[in-house]
Amino acid sequence: MIDLSPKIQEALNNQIAYEGYASNFYLALAYWCDDQALQGCKKFFIRQSEEERMHMLKIYEYMSESGVHPKTSAIPEPPLEYESIQTAFSKVFEQERSVTQSIHNLLLLAQQENDYNTQQFLQWYVDEQREEEAVIRTILDRIKIIGQGGASLYYIDKEVEKINQEVIAAEAAGGGE
Ligand code: FEO
Repeated sequence: MIDLSPKIQEALNNQIAYEGYASNFYLALAYWCDDQALQGCKKFFIRQSEEERMHMLKIYEYMSESGVHPKTSAIPEPPLEYESIQTAFSKVFEQERSVTQSIHNLLLLAQQENDYNTQQFLQWYVDEQREEEAVIRTILDRIKIIGQGGASLYYIDKEVEKINQEVIAAEAAGGGE
């Protein structure tokens, strides 16, 4: 059994709620995209929602293995409406940046608490956040190149679907989870 300090327990419980929020946020985005007939983006967000749920479950498992009962806190409702697919992806980037910050803060706390197990556990999240931010940055770059013209939504949707397939292929090849 591993000892987790009360501060680490609280921070991990908060992280469970952040990851849970991220999962719901992506689900809300998926069904907003469904309303807009953006099926490629919908698939991207559904997969992303499942990933965030997995990020959340990994923390439950880590706390449980450490002999601590994890909390299932209430999480705020994500927005249901988005101005455009362009602004939706900008919000996604902000969201991922804030999760990255939260992981980095948690890692700093684990260092201050001399908690080597939690530091090691969090390394996976540091890598995962870097990869996720890179994917969203790529999408934002492509959205910028496609521009705002008549068929832009069609091309954005196709591009996001293609990137989604690339992420799935990379995961299958062991490049991430
Ligand atoms: Fe698990 Fe992308 O935050």
